[in-house]
Amino acid sequence: MSKRVHIESYGCQMNFSDSEIVASILAKDGYTLVDKAEEADLVLLNTCSIRDKAEQTVLNRIDGLNHLKGRNPDLRVGVLGCMAERMREDLLEKKKLVDLVVGPDAYRTLPTLLDEVEGGQKAVNVLLSREETYAEIEPVRLGSNGVTAFVTIMRGCDNMCAFCVVPFTRGRERSRDPDTIVDECRQLVAQGYREVTLLGQNVDSYRWNVDGRGAVKDPTVPVTDFADLLERVAGVSPLLRVRYSTSHPKDMTDKVLAVMARHPNICKYIHLPVQSGSSAVLQRMNRGYDRAWYLARIAAIRRHMPDCAISTDLITGFCGETEEEHRDTLSLMEAVRYDMAYMFKYSERPRTLAARKYADDVPDDVKGRRLQEVIDLQMKHAGERNRRHVGQVQEVLIEGVSKRSEAHLFGRNSQNAVVIVARHHAGTELKPGDLVLARIVSGTSGSLQGEVTEVVARRPEAMAVAP
Ligand code: SAH
Ligand code: SF4
Ligand code: F3S
Repeated sequence: MSKRVHIESYGCQMNFSDSEIVASILAKDGYTLVDKAEEADLVLLNTCSIRDKAEQTVLNRIDGLNHLKGRNPDLRVGVLGCMAERMREDLLEKKKLVDLVVGPDAYRTLPTLLDEVEGGQKAVNVLLSREETYAEIEPVRLGSNGVTAFVTIMRGCDNMCAFCVVPFTRGRERSRDPDTIVDECRQLVAQGYREVTLLGQNVDSYRWNVDGRGAVKDPTVPVTDFADLLERVAGVSPLLRVRYSTSHPKDMTDKVLAVMARHPNICKYIHLPVQSGSSAVLQRMNRGYDRAWYLARIAAIRRHMPDCAISTDLITGFCGETEEEHRDTLSLMEAVRYDMAYMFKYSERPRTLAARKYADDVPDDVKGRRLQEVIDLQMKHAGERNRRHVGQVQEVLIEGVSKRSEAHLFGRNSQNAVVIVARHHAGTELKPGDLVLARIVSGTSGSLQGEVTEVVARRPEAMAVAP
């Protein structure tokens, strides 16, 4: 009987994408995937260290697995990803239940490590690599809707934002061979997928065929930057929508904006994390830009694509943040009017520049109050921004059944806003993967209501629907 593995992913999209690499490696090693931890011989948690709360969630989950071990003494538990990298052997000490600790660059060694674990030992591999991109591994799509997929284009991060643990957990930045990226996208199209999201911590610094000093490695191979890559992926099929995440304000080029504007199938949506609206705070954060630079990038986006949606990440209560600096964040939000935002209280992370250099001196209740002010303002802007779509006829890619009603489906417009439409249109039942035109009739801060006017393309019949 084959061994059964259950994988849970926490944290960012890159972790979800990595779990699909892990699933592929384990499938080749004879493992079958199961949906429930209760049914597994091996439970793997792919973990996140970005904030203390993210780590607490996983530590609690490990405790929660204790009763399963009681029932099945042969159950093995492994921790993968960023917490594995950050906590290393300490994790085995702290949580006796854990048998296996594997960092994000060491997944190819999983079969060997699992052999050790089966022999009754504990196994650890947290080596980081300068080269590993898992370029040729064909991911096993997990929890997929068969319509949208993540494609990792680079790993690691060379920026040293003062608050951020990622450079410590993910190592040096490296780009993946563009040919393998384009191949993966072609295969996805052949399988019926209709949208890819290209992933990296800082996609604007994607570069293929240059070394660390910027010199060309192989003169017979073209240098590919992110704009070139985006253009190649957009060329795979006019029916493949292309998204990407995350852009960095200091590196986002007009060349990328021009490519986006030129290709209708590149979605008009940019996630451009600002973190703070105060130049002094941005400097302490070591972000590499100030408020004026950021606003100039926003202006460039709007110049190239007036209808482009923009979202951001914001941190409240970073080290030394004054009331006035906090108000700078609110005024920057007023100036930009984001379509969407992820908003966080600052959480000090061990080893980071901020942890070593600055005091975490904004009291928790002040961080919380500032966060609430930021959230309230964002809710107002999101509602306003969403309502701007009302009256327009927009292309919507259907992704699944609406949470609220079986009679409705949900999809997204190019700007990444969720659009709800009726399941039936002119006597036909719409399905995930269908591309439709819909007239937007109303909107809230969370979603839009649309009326389908035309079906542009049906989901291909031969499509392999993922379980
Ligand atoms: N590479 C991306 C961000 C990855 S982390 C970028 O540069 O934008 C996602 C978000 O988590 C960050 O943008 C930041 O807003 C938030 N974050 C990171 N470290 C944090 C910390 N120590 N405390 C609170 N929020 C944090
Ligand atoms: Fe972290 Fe900054 Fe790198 Fe983003 S760019 S992953 S915030 S260090
Ligand atoms: Fe978390 Fe690691 Fe992503 S720390 S946000 S899972 S890169």
